[in-house]
Amino acid sequence: MAFQKGFRWGVATASYQIEGGAHEADKGLNVWDVASATEGRIFEGHTADVGCDHFHKVKEDVALLKELGVNAYRFSINWARLIPSGTGKVSEAGKNFYLELFKELKVAGIEPWVTLFHWDYPYALYERGGWLNDESSDWFAAYAKVCAELFGDYVDHFILINEPECFVGLGHFTAGHAPFLKLCVRDVAHISHNVLLACGKAEKAIRKAIARPVKIGTAQAYWPAIPATHEAKDVEMARKETFTCHHDFGGIGLWLDPLLKGEYPADYLAWFAENGFVPPEKDMEIIRSRLDFCGLNTYSGNPVKEEGGKAVYITPPPTVPKTDMRWNVYPEVFYYGPKYIYDRYNLPVVYTENGVALAEWKDLNGEICDDSRIDFLKRYLRELYRAADEIPVEGYFYWTLYDNFEWTEGFSKKFGLVHFDPETLERTPKKSARFFRTLAETNGEEIWK
Ligand code: NOJ
Repeated sequence: MAFQKGFRWGVATASYQIEGGAHEADKGLNVWDVASATEGRIFEGHTADVGCDHFHKVKEDVALLKELGVNAYRFSINWARLIPSGTGKVSEAGKNFYLELFKELKVAGIEPWVTLFHWDYPYALYERGGWLNDESSDWFAAYAKVCAELFGDYVDHFILINEPECFVGLGHFTAGHAPFLKLCVRDVAHISHNVLLACGKAEKAIRKAIARPVKIGTAQAYWPAIPATHEAKDVEMARKETFTCHHDFGGIGLWLDPLLKGEYPADYLAWFAENGFVPPEKDMEIIRSRLDFCGLNTYSGNPVKEEGGKAVYITPPPTVPKTDMRWNVYPEVFYYGPKYIYDRYNLPVVYTENGVALAEWKDLNGEICDDSRIDFLKRYLRELYRAADEIPVEGYFYWTLYDNFEWTEGFSKKFGLVHFDPETLERTPKKSARFFRTLAETNGEEIWK
């Protein structure tokens, strides 16, 4: 077996991390613009005001994508660039910027996969209470409708929301990301519910606005539990733990069960109820959505074994390699992870993100020989290849096109296939960029060499 015909070999980016042009035309502020401007929030005071200057380099960047040989490109729309106040009037400059990108991609023969929201929440809406306001799901659905109407002719694949686990959990519960709040469980559960309602309403709004069938999915932060051994009891324990409520907002079941089954997992309901939040039953039919694929963002996972009927998490020995994010390199997440998802939801899987940050720099010859990134890709994709033999896997998007603004880490973490110099704004393909091109050309066969 090989990766299926028509498999997507893509790269992924997000508006805030690459666009720059933070204060151009009539663009509204978002919560990350404000974080960037706040002392102490971002590593060494980096900002994304200029970012990778993608806002001014659409043609150049599409040429770069073409050079990488990708057949698909995942990127996000900056809500406050398109609708500066979050609701109401559409910005001409914002609209034209995205139209130019869509047109260039079309000419290049690269399929756009559009994320509607990748964390850059309009500040004007934050000031109105943000996701805690019960109108927030309507604001999002109205924005999704605008995107569908303006760009629907170009887009066959929509991703509603990127990693709610992070912008809800880190953003509103543990204060690790914008808007840096530490709210109580009741409020964050309420926010989660509004985010789910937003997805449900947006899915329906997009299908209504676009007459032809389009594919809609999400992109979940998915760090599954992985079995410490291949023994059946560990495999089953890892599956169970992957969907268990660990009293945080990172569990994938919290997000996908309501969307795909129309119900919350029982353990989440119990945790929410203990903290005073009971999701209204009448909302569940609105949340329940017809999704076409499960988008997964997976970088690593957590090894677990079964002992006396209980889950025991394993501390990785020092032999397990760590990336520059200090994330463990566990390629087997790409075998067990997608299988657990497919077994539970029966939907094709797309890896909407995976990649590796390395401490690297241009050598004296001006080259970046990132052999470890190539090795990482081979190891993970060999496991995915195994999974693709058993379940439908439709695509793989490497995170990310070029080194970019890694949220609170600023430009210090380098995930790109292409090196980016924040001073000269120069883009230089790394050795892995050439490897990725061959991967795409051989539909993955290159992983065996
Ligand atoms: C998850 C996020 O979606 C993306 O924005 C981030 O840069 C990468 N993973 C790496 O941390």
